[in-house]
Amino acid sequence: MTREEVLDSVNENVENKNLVKHMLAVEAIMRALAKRLGEDEEEWGLTGLLHDIDVELTAGDMSSYSKLGADLAKELGASESMAHAILCHNEAHGVSRETKLDKALYCADPLTGLITAAALVRPDKKLAGLEAKSVLKRFKEKSFAAGAGREPISQCSELGLGLDEFVELGLEAMKGIADDLGL
Ligand SMILES: [Fe+2]
Repeated sequence: MTREEVLDSVNENVENKNLVKHMLAVEAIMRALAKRLGEDEEEWGLTGLLHDIDVELTAGDMSSYSKLGADLAKELGASESMAHAILCHNEAHGVSRETKLDKALYCADPLTGLITAAALVRPDKKLAGLEAKSVLKRFKEKSFAAGAGREPISQCSELGLGLDEFVELGLEAMKGIADDLGL
């Protein structure tokens, strides 16, 4: 399974380009996390890129969302551990997060939303001038980008990362693909 094959499949299954950008952002953060933790960057990155592949196919049906995604990922050649991380990032299945990969996907997913929202309220709507301390300030404003779950983001502690470091890492990772994200 190559990254190109994964990206093609994501684009085939997800029409909304903002959702594809979200998956690219999660991929970037997952790669940075894997590098930081000495894990497999390709495996973690592709898990991030694949994680919402079924989001439009399941159309809000939380009982199938992520289950179908895990199946599609395996069809593409993803490992069991990648499929497990995708499955358990939807809490509706009641599958517990066991591995570091499971935990990383769970906290990286909402961080992209917080960072994207923090960029979009800037006059230039760009990531380049956004600082981690601004994102951390936004983190504490509960009503700001409320969909970006603060509790899941805080679970970075399960990976041995403090919130400050996690936000910094995530922001730098997203800045690295700012053009792809249109930010
Ligand atoms: Fe997601």
